[in-house]
Amino acid sequence: MRTRSLGTKGPVVSAMGLGCMSMSQAYGTRNDDESRKTLQRALDLGVTFLDTADVYGEGHNESLVGAAIQGRRGEVFLATKCGILFGERGRGLDGSPAYIRQACEASLKRLGTDVIDLYYLHRKDPKTPIEESAGALATLVKEGKVRHVGLSEVAPATLKRAHAVHPITAVQSEYSLWYREPEHGILPACRELGVGFVPFSPLGRGFLAGASVRSDTLAEGDMRLGLPRFQGENLDRNERLREALAEIAAGRGQTPAQLALAWVLAQGETVVPIPGTKRVRYLEENAAASALDARTLAAIEAALAANPPSGERYSPDMMAWVDRG
Ligand SMILES: NC(=O)c1ccc[n+]([C@@H]2O[C@H](COP(=O)([O-])OP(=O)(O)OC[C@H]3O[C@@H](n4cnc5c(N)ncnc54)[C@H](OP(=O)(O)O)[C@@H]3O)[C@@H](O)[C@H]2O)c1
Repeated sequence: MRTRSLGTKGPVVSAMGLGCMSMSQAYGTRNDDESRKTLQRALDLGVTFLDTADVYGEGHNESLVGAAIQGRRGEVFLATKCGILFGERGRGLDGSPAYIRQACEASLKRLGTDVIDLYYLHRKDPKTPIEESAGALATLVKEGKVRHVGLSEVAPATLKRAHAVHPITAVQSEYSLWYREPEHGILPACRELGVGFVPFSPLGRGFLAGASVRSDTLAEGDMRLGLPRFQGENLDRNERLREALAEIAAGRGQTPAQLALAWVLAQGETVVPIPGTKRVRYLEENAAASALDARTLAAIEAALAANPPSGERYSPDMMAWVDRG
């Protein structure tokens, strides 16, 4: 596995990470045994940038990842997040210094480590000025509990304000072939500040990898059932884009997942995607994604122009948590 630097002067990580969310929630049923094997295989392949969050499975995901990396902690660049409430606290956001401190302590415990390599604020809390949240994260760095600070789904103005308090190492936002909004805001802002960019859902939540996402094939509780892009006429239109991309992938001897990841990797040297899976087979396939030539990039642009993605990426309640600056 090649490596990349998170931002211009940031830490060196595997050029592709592993998103661990689906091991605990969101897409399909849990399989802890297969998930543990996937985590071990990731480290064997040099996919050492692991992404989790306290809210994934309400702590289950951090505990799973923490247990799987015991004895191999030194190989891992471990990223987790705080700020989305769960459990008894109900649904909501909290970026207050008191909450961040308490969440960090709980994450360290579940992860079985004494330091988090990259600690993100999962969403900006509208009730707390970002300077206060960034200040709390900076204090955790001073105390040696956190090595690097990140933000997720923030607007460029928020990134700049936080970066003035403490250097931000990475911003994590949704970015993929079928969701390119970051190109008009946060991605150029990261480049300007020398901040790394970590695309989440680079496989379009499985859609761009060819996973069957018709409502009759998804298990009850699968989050995609509630996302506009996976519904009705939007889905019908998006299927046409997927078919066009699958044809391009087949023409270069790649799988659709590999084409989607190669496209993200082609967007810049400080861009480090974190495709998610709980299966060894998918992990191995994804890790083998290779570089894209100019002809393939042009073919992808043409396919997107002919079949523009249809529908919002989030439902209105999830959209309300996205920072607009
Ligand atoms: N900061 C945030 O707000 C935020 C939001 C969402 C996600 N994330 C992070 O980003 C990571 C990745 O995003 P994501 O999981 O939402 O979406 P994703 O990486 O775009 O897609 C994951 C889905 O694709 C499937 N898949 C993976 N590789 C495949 C392959 N080669 N062939 C067919 N299907 C394949 C997975 O199936 P299986 O699960 O069955 O293996 C899973 O259902 C997450 O794990 C999480 O760590 C962060």
